[in-house]
Amino acid sequence: MDVIDVRNPGLVSHKGFLLIKGLHDPDAVDMIRNLEIKESDVLVVTYPKSGTIWMQQILLLLEAKGDLTAISKHVKFSNAELVPWIEVKTEKFIKAPSPRMTVSHLPFSLLPSALSQKKGKVIYVARNPKDVLVSYFHFHKVGNMLETPTDFDDFFEKFMRGDVFASSWFEHIKAWYLHKDDINMLFLTYEEMVKDLHSAVERIALFLGSALTDEQLADVVKHATFNNMKKNPQANYERVPGRLLSHHQGTFLRKGTIGDWKNHFTVAQNERFDDTFHREMADIPLDFIWDI
Ligand code: A3P
Repeated sequence: MDVIDVRNPGLVSHKGFLLIKGLHDPDAVDMIRNLEIKESDVLVVTYPKSGTIWMQQILLLLEAKGDLTAISKHVKFSNAELVPWIEVKTEKFIKAPSPRMTVSHLPFSLLPSALSQKKGKVIYVARNPKDVLVSYFHFHKVGNMLETPTDFDDFFEKFMRGDVFASSWFEHIKAWYLHKDDINMLFLTYEEMVKDLHSAVERIALFLGSALTDEQLADVVKHATFNNMKKNPQANYERVPGRLLSHHQGTFLRKGTIGDWKNHFTVAQNERFDDTFHREMADIPLDFIWDI
């Protein structure tokens, strides 16, 4: 694997939302708002580090009725070739055969307005933000398009300021949550997926109208567990070129647990986080599972 330690720290603010310079083209992102959406389109929306690549694997497996070999056909590097980020590969999404499947970290205000006419299907996956912060910290060492933080304290401050790709976690979830009834949306949490993957996969299958036998559903679950995805280079992004991901620094599938923040936050950071969480989320009736 060619590992090149080239890091591009640049973020660019576009309509109040931070994008990655060199990866996202603001003009292409602007096209997304007016895209036509088909009833069969499936969009997974997440704030980074909330289970995006997990959902890519689940969507592909559901479409393949649990047959893992079917989803590795025609793939060179990773599942992103089949379920791309719409903000990175907009043209690819537009031209994809139905059902078009895509993932996105974009805010509500930048994704297709047609979603608000209940066109397409949106799955929003939310994760408790303390674990998001920790996972994002570690991922900044792996993703070469992201600035490597000096240390955890440095990253903690950046996350709290929303000075990271995808801006503030609070703004992201609030806007999507407040519009959930205007959209054909399934709202899931990472924690419910960790605690009971089978039930979560059943809910997703029901939402998408996927008709699978019990055996096929069990196969989907089997190939979407943390241990099996970690062993699968296509699902774990291990073949993605080293100029994009520093594989020696870590992998997409890192720990896959609930509550790792306890190994990172100081007491003072935790108190500050709780204060911010309660203030920002005062009007949002959402609770999270913070540990197991
Ligand atoms: P950790 O860094 O806490 O381990 P994203 O795909 O949005 O970038 O999210 C990555 C996070 O999801 C990582 O969290 C990764 O381990 C976790 N993840 C991915 N697949 C998973 C699975 N099958 N089970 C549990 N966690 C998973």
